[in-house]
Amino acid sequence: MKEKILQTVEYIRAKVDFKPDIGLILGSGLGFLADKIEDSNEIAYEEIPNFPHSTVAGHEGKLVFGKLSGKRVVVLKGRFHLYEGWSPEVIKFVIYVLNKLGVKKLIITNAAGGINKLLKPGDIVLVKDIINFQFKNPLRGPNYEEFGPRFPDMSTILDKEWTERLKESFDLPQGVYMAVLGPSYETPAEIRAFRKLGADVVGMSTVPEIIAAKHCGIDCLVLSCVTNMAAGVLDQPLSHKEVVEVANRVKDKFSKIVLKSLEV
Ligand code: 6GU
Repeated sequence: MKEKILQTVEYIRAKVDFKPDIGLILGSGLGFLADKIEDSNEIAYEEIPNFPHSTVAGHEGKLVFGKLSGKRVVVLKGRFHLYEGWSPEVIKFVIYVLNKLGVKKLIITNAAGGINKLLKPGDIVLVKDIINFQFKNPLRGPNYEEFGPRFPDMSTILDKEWTERLKESFDLPQGVYMAVLGPSYETPAEIRAFRKLGADVVGMSTVPEIIAAKHCGIDCLVLSCVTNMAAGVLDQPLSHKEVVEVANRVKDKFSKIVLKSLEV
């Protein structure tokens, strides 16, 4: 894997003469932020040696390099979910490549279901901790000491100071993100159980990325858009259509918060 990472990084460096400081992994509805990047340079995933890419038509996947909010960024347009069948190791590979390209900070956004009854659809939650209910760990397998230790500390996985600085500009609720495998949504009994375990929102992404990033010393900020209340909170079924609609409705507000988080 180490040789593959170096080969991939070499290829990207030869194509794009640009060193990013901050990585952005954007969930549903926020991909358009990649179009706001100045002096952008793109590379399609499929072109990059060893890089995972979707073979499903219409699934765009590319790295976009350039400046956003005055910062040197790389946006991952198109992400890898475990429910699609990707292994957590693939996500680790992508994060290690970002690390070798120079990324020191990572902003991750996602769509999530609201478990905490004080939340409502459209809220943007600053994630303060996670629960890994995917029961898969991207660090499983041989450890590469140059990236991080075999048994990395996870007592502060999200950058507290970064979170506090962002809160000076936006009065955002904070919460615990529970990650499940999906792709089915949860049952009402599961959501009641998750609430008792301390979860505020639930989603199907982000956790493998955070674990791999924390391992190699990348600081993370995670923002969850509550697109719907989780099963059983309201007396109505869940639909992916609603998730997409709410993600679209709040995208202006959400993108303002993401752009600010680059600045602070
Ligand atoms: Cl209710 N559950 C999960 N797992 N992911 C979601 C969601 C719910 N709503 C949006 N994404």
